[in-house]
Parts: sequence; C-alpha cells; structure tokens
Amino acid sequence: MHLVTLVASERRNGNCDLLGRYAERYASTSDVKSELIYLKDFEIKQCQGCMRCVLNNEKCKIEDDIYTFIDVIQNGDALLLLAPTYVLTVPGTLKMVMDRFLCIYEKVKDKPLRPGISIGVCSPIDWNQFQLPLMNLFLLSLGYRVINSYFVYGAGQGEVLLENGVETIENSIKNLVEYRPKPYASQIAKYCPIDFCTLFERVEGDKFRCPVCLAPAVLKGDGFYFEAKDLNHHRWTKENIHDHFVNWILKTKPRYKTMLKEIFKKKRELCL
Ligand SMILES: Cc1cc2nc3c(=O)[nH]c(=O)nc-3n(C[C@H](O)[C@H](O)[C@H](O)COP(=O)(O)O)c2cc1C
Repeated sequence: MHLVTLVASERRNGNCDLLGRYAERYASTSDVKSELIYLKDFEIKQCQGCMRCVLNNEKCKIEDDIYTFIDVIQNGDALLLLAPTYVLTVPGTLKMVMDRFLCIYEKVKDKPLRPGISIGVCSPIDWNQFQLPLMNLFLLSLGYRVINSYFVYGAGQGEVLLENGVETIENSIKNLVEYRPKPYASQIAKYCPIDFCTLFERVEGDKFRCPVCLAPAVLKGDGFYFEAKDLNHHRWTKENIHDHFVNWILKTKPRYKTMLKEIFKKKRELCL
C-alpha cells in the first residue's frame, strides 16, 4: 500500500508536522510505502469562478500547483489528513483546494474509491464543531471514503505527543492498511457514518439530515438511525456527483442564457 500523509499546518515542529513525521516512520516499519507531503509546499490560488473548466471542459487557467497537488495525492492508495483547527474549523488553505473542486473533478472522477482518515488537532475542548465535517468534506470531494476521523488535543508544539497523538496515528495507519471496501450497514450513531459530522439539519419532527452528505437521520434515543440504502447513496457517491455535474452544473449555462436579456434590463434599471 502507498500511504500519502498530508499535513495542512504551516507551523514547523507543530503538532501536525510531528504527527506526520511519526506517521511516516511508523508506516515504514510495516509493509507500507509512505509519502509525507505538506500543503504549504504547493501554491494553491483562489478559484476565480469563471466556470470554464466545467462548462468548456478546459484546463484551469490559474497558474499554480493545483494539478500537481492532485497528482501527488492521487498517487497514493490511501490518504491520512492532518490539520489544525482554526476558529472552529479547517485552515483556509484546505478550503482553497476544495474551492477548486470543479477543475479537479476531471482528474478524480474515474479513480477508484480509496480510504481516507482525518485527524484534526485542536485545543481546547468544544471549539472544533466544524473541523471534522470540513476535513471529511475535503476527503469526500477528492473521492475518498472516510473510514475514520479523530480529534487529538494539543495547543503548543508537541503537546499532542503527551496526549492521544501517537496512539491515534498508529490506529489510523492500521485501519488504512486493513481496510477492505464494504457497503454501509444500517446503524444507530451519534455522528454521520459518512463524514463523522455531529451537526444535523432538522427536516421535520424527529427527521434530520447530515448537511455534508445529505444522509437522512431519524432521532432514536440519544443517537440517530441511518438506513443502509441512504448511506450507500449519499451526496458524494460517484453517481450522485456525476448527476450533479450533468443535470445541474452543465445545465446552468443554457438556463443562464435564457435569463440574460432580463438581467441586462435589470442592470440598466439599477445603473449597475
Ligand atoms: C489562529 C488560530 C486559531 C485557532 N483556533 C482554534 C479553535 O477555534 N479551536 C481549537 O480547538 N484550537 C484552535 N487553535 C489551536 C490550534 O488548533 C492548535 O494550536 C493546534 O495544535 C495547531 O496545530 P499545529 O501545531 O499543527 O499548527 C487555533 C490556533 C491558531 C493559531
């Protein structure tokens, strides 16, 4: 197995950096080809929203490292993602990659589903509600199945080594090595089994849904009931993403054209 470990913190000798280096060493003691990469080593610029990548099927014109980055990630059979928590959620650099989803899609759409694990480093407790859902959104949008997702705690550089950091890395690598694809089963859980999100959108009564993957969740005791058929057809499956591209994104162009006259009229009225 070829494991790629991605560190999404800029802090040298920081917690993600140290855990990444430990993962690299731990993986190499088993039969794993291991590659440690740092997001900061790639220049990723902001999406400009031109839509040419998807509507005209063109390569993105932005001169940066997005395609190189995706190629490096795609080289692996599994991805271990390490990211610090900033203001309850992921660092902006991860979001910058996610924002390029439309131009990345061509590169990831035909790749087999691979396992991924996210580890969010945070401190203190309870200031991290968006961290794992967003880290896992990153994994799902790049075509990974999230097989586990953890928090490790630590503020200063190296603190995670005194907490559950080392054990979490070892467990994660074992999980990734031992992973064999199987469909999701119906289950009761306190978090969404697709993306480990603990935040739910209320639909009505005791019916909720996961905002990341849209899996329906019915309140049961102190958890939620998830049906296998829903879990196996969540928003980020290859079929549903293909459908979203073909039946929504691509259709926005002709639909927009029919509205152009009206938009120009409105702009004139508003002197815009
Ligand atoms: C700008 C900034 C904002 C932060 N916000 C949070 C936060 O909202 N929740 C949290 O749990 N930790 C927060 N932290 C703490 C970091 O997540 C923590 O120090 C972590 O260990 C950093 O990982 P690193 O050493 O790999 O960079 C913040 C740190 C910084 C620098």
